Amino acid sequence: MTRPAANWRLHRRVLMQARPYWLHVAAILVLGLLAVPLALMVPLPLKIAVDSVIGNRPVPGWVDWLAPDALTRSDSALLVVVVALVALVAVLALIQELARSVLSAYTSERLALSFRSELFRHAQRLSLSFHDGRGTTHSVYRIQYDALSLQYVLVEGVVPMLTAALTFVGMVAVTGAIDAELALVALSISPILFGASYAYRRRVRPQWHAAKEYESSAMSVIQETLGALRVVKVFGREDHEQERFVRRSRSGVRARIRLAVVEGAYGLLIGLTIAAGTATVLYVGVRHVRSGVLTLGELLVVMSYVARLYDPLRSMSKKAAGLQSSLASAERAFALLDETPDVAERPNARPLGRARGHIALRGVSFSYDGRQDVVTDFSLAMAPGTRLGIAGTTGAGKTTLISLLLRLYDPTRGAVLLDGVDLRDYRVADLRRQFAVVLQEPVLFSASVLENIAYARPEASLREIEAAAAAAHADEFIRALPDGADTLVGERGMRLSGGERQRIGLARAFLKDAPILVLDEPTSSVDVRTEAAIVDGMERLMRGRTSIIIAHRLSTLDRCDLRVEVEKGRLATLAPGPAARGAAPVRVRGNGHKPSPARAHA
Ligand SMILES: Nc1ncnc2c1ncn2[C@@H]1O[C@H](COP(=O)(O)OP(=O)(O)OP(=O)(O)O)[C@@H](O)[C@H]1O
Ligand SMILES: [Mg+2]
Repeated sequence: MTRPAANWRLHRRVLMQARPYWLHVAAILVLGLLAVPLALMVPLPLKIAVDSVIGNRPVPGWVDWLAPDALTRSDSALLVVVVALVALVAVLALIQELARSVLSAYTSERLALSFRSELFRHAQRLSLSFHDGRGTTHSVYRIQYDALSLQYVLVEGVVPMLTAALTFVGMVAVTGAIDAELALVALSISPILFGASYAYRRRVRPQWHAAKEYESSAMSVIQETLGALRVVKVFGREDHEQERFVRRSRSGVRARIRLAVVEGAYGLLIGLTIAAGTATVLYVGVRHVRSGVLTLGELLVVMSYVARLYDPLRSMSKKAAGLQSSLASAERAFALLDETPDVAERPNARPLGRARGHIALRGVSFSYDGRQDVVTDFSLAMAPGTRLGIAGTTGAGKTTLISLLLRLYDPTRGAVLLDGVDLRDYRVADLRRQFAVVLQEPVLFSASVLENIAYARPEASLREIEAAAAAAHADEFIRALPDGADTLVGERGMRLSGGERQRIGLARAFLKDAPILVLDEPTSSVDVRTEAAIVDGMERLMRGRTSIIIAHRLSTLDRCDLRVEVEKGRLATLAPGPAARGAAPVRVRGNGHKPSPARAHA
């Protein structure tokens, strides 16, 4: 599964992703390497104590160099030197460890934040089709959990592995200088360790992928259920959702337990190998002391080095285990980053200041799933300033037409043109600025009423916001709210009524001074009197703008110059609206249907 080349590519990508933090990572590496000389110094005081304080061998040259003669001549003075050395080495090791862990934490957190924010930005760029198909949790899990893999792989994986490898080399060299044969014996077990960790790696990564997929799917049940708790409660489906959550979680639990068993078995194998190595070294070492090749103090040093020699091996193998989980996560996060947005911006996209508002659909067909067309061969042209009313049965494809116009999706065939230019040629951000939209289901954010209206134009003045609220007939109910415009609307605006949400959505569109106004059933949730008032407000807003209104109630479409009726994704009828003045600048091209006012009113 994890072919070496792919594995190498993945490591390289992790490294490239962390490019801004290379200096930090290098510093962590250097701090980690300081541990090597410190570790080498740890057993030396013991050796001096055994060989020179208790025994009567001469003091090693470097101690003479370090401490004045007077101190090394008497045994008790030498003992003080030895004790001081122990303390010094310990303090240095503690300082080194403190610096390393603080820098690691700093680097890890910064790495995670920058990777997460890149993933979040990319997820926002991906098309609605992507998110509709995968569900939001697919991305949430990757951004919130899988993104952490970068820090694990680098700061807690690769760097410690490198440190361990270098420590290993240092220890082998020093042990070899004291007793080459012992170093060889100690080394002889390393092929087993490397073989085991290779085999382990191959087996475990795919299993980690599966485990994370189960977890992500369990999380999507939570998200979906709590997000639509009203529906769940109303239909009394709490137990069903609970069962769905537990079932998916259980698959994840089983996968993790299987992984723990494999990891345990692997740890056991490593531990046994190391124990066998240590025992062999002790056996050979004691024989060497007996035959006079080694002093007792030297054997103690070698045994301490061998223990430390195996430490990096053990931690390398352990890290290799944890690393597999992180690498699986890294693959998942990179997979999200590799998704290409369907609605991509062309490299040399045209900037667009303020559009005149000439809209044309030319033989547009569209399908959500690539199989069944929802919009079929739709053609229509509107001069700037036209008011277009769209009617049609539910599910006919009206909202889909709007989505195509806003370039939330690209047509499968044909083209949508604004001011004579294909939408796909414009910069996406410039294009979206041309529309003030009221969506069919107004979506509010968990913020105050004021902030929700200002979402369309954050820099708007308070007076402009108030005017927009008044035009949408929202001012009256906003004043009646406990904290007025500062009242919090709750998640997705759930603390307001449907009609109130709709009017805030309208105020939002009114505030955005855009050349094209798009209203998808803007008054479906308000009573007839309020609707009449809102339509009055809209009248002012539509003046001089190209407007598109979708409505079931024909009264809402009274003021349109042009009415179309959509039937099963096709343009069924096209007719001048009741408000059409003789001079209305309308250019019409239906699909072979003759304009028939009679049907438009039906
Ligand atoms: N995101 C989507 N993914 C797949 N199919 C979709 C999606 N949105 C809508 N559809 C399908 O496309 C068809 C047209 O839907 P659309 O929302 O455009 O209808 P509509 O005319 O706006 O209806 P309504 O009057 O009920 O709002 C429907 O059959 C619907 O099932
Ligand atoms: Mg609709």
